[in-house]
Amino acid sequence: MKRLVMVGAGSRGSGMYAQPITENYADEAVILGVFDTNIKRAELLSRKTGGKIPVFDDFNRMLAEVKPDAVIVTTVDRFHHQYIIAALEAGCDAISEKPMTIDADKCRAILEAERRTGRQVIVTFNARCSPFATKIKDLMRAGAVGQVYSVHFEWFLDTEHGADYFRRWHRQLKNSGGLLVHKATHHFDLVNWFIEKDPVAVFATGSRRFYGQPSAISGPRCRTCAHKDDCRFFIDVTAPAYRELYFDCESADGYWRDGCIFSPEIDICDTMTLHVQYEDQVSMAYSLTAHSPHEGYRLVINGEKGRLEAETFAHKRNAAMSSHSIKVLDRDDAVITHQVAKLSGTHGGADAILLRLLMRDQAPDPHQYVAGSRAGAMSLIIGAAANLSIASGQVIQIKDLLPTL
Ligand SMILES: NC(=O)c1ccc[n+]([C@@H]2O[C@H](COP(=O)([O-])OP(=O)(O)OC[C@H]3O[C@@H](n4cnc5c(N)ncnc54)[C@H](O)[C@@H]3O)[C@@H](O)[C@H]2O)c1
Repeated sequence: MKRLVMVGAGSRGSGMYAQPITENYADEAVILGVFDTNIKRAELLSRKTGGKIPVFDDFNRMLAEVKPDAVIVTTVDRFHHQYIIAALEAGCDAISEKPMTIDADKCRAILEAERRTGRQVIVTFNARCSPFATKIKDLMRAGAVGQVYSVHFEWFLDTEHGADYFRRWHRQLKNSGGLLVHKATHHFDLVNWFIEKDPVAVFATGSRRFYGQPSAISGPRCRTCAHKDDCRFFIDVTAPAYRELYFDCESADGYWRDGCIFSPEIDICDTMTLHVQYEDQVSMAYSLTAHSPHEGYRLVINGEKGRLEAETFAHKRNAAMSSHSIKVLDRDDAVITHQVAKLSGTHGGADAILLRLLMRDQAPDPHQYVAGSRAGAMSLIIGAAANLSIASGQVIQIKDLLPTL
């Protein structure tokens, strides 16, 4: 029986871990404590899972009293390293949500703590577990394009999903590392996993074109906004989707879930382009747009034998704009199209697949869905290097940031 504690009782902590673990894995794992700087949210998590998870008001005391096997880290990204390192130092393993952390200094500190303590960090890249990504991995493993030469990867968030990052804590670089770390750590991990190569250097440009200032309409938050009726981005934080988890917990820390997406506080980019050089002369052109009419990605992997083209995207109001297929083109004009079935469940069924592997030690993991600190580092460091490149205009060498990897 795994003895677990949790730090971070927000949407992910509750939805991905606390609720499904207590409901579906009672024979494999028990959650023996939860800590969150917002004690109301920790209490809510405990209540929602049957009232048996003790709420602690001090993380270190929770570790000392419970002596867990592992700590599940689902806080705001900027604090992941503190809890991961404290967990390792206390002799526990850490299961961290992506991104493992948000910059190179914190990343090196985690890697060093893991080496020093001999404990293990797992980083939960649920995006690997989708059937679509798994099919690409299988095709690449089977040598669909032979030796890889280059990658083109375009990710687009629609204005519903994309806007949500500009309402919440994510909108400040100091909290999330921006979308190139917070969000793109998934994307870079997928590429690293597909092509099995390490990044060497990054050049990036980024700007904010759609969210933030200047704007004709803005206010501190939706709830008190004078433009409620004429802003297409208005959300009602007292609606059932947000009320218990955020609105009812505001008095504990003053955090608003409905910050204005045109706030002057926003300092992250919404339009970003990268050139990533990988080992063995493989290059990647990557872009992330957070204000697209539709949502999904297009990925091309060029290689010795031809090209793999994958696209999966959807337009909420125009089904004709949706696509979901993988094509492999060889140099003799043959094209094989692969259709991949979608699963139900959160993140296209990926969350349940990953949680099963995390909870059941003996469950086979032939695709290596469960990632460690190296994959966590190699994906976040591309985004962290991109942030440095955007700020300096320079090409950033990965070995200068992570000399030991
Ligand atoms: N893999 C995925 O698909 C996926 C999806 C969503 C979120 N996430 C990750 O999960 C984590 C949590 O995101 P979320 O959507 O639940 O956000 P959230 O805002 O709902 O929850 C964050 C929680 O962290 C708590 N917190 C803030 N500062 C803290 C501190 N110093 N110490 C302890 N707790 C603190 C907040 O009070 C809040 O309860 C993030 O790292 C995010 O990247 C992953």
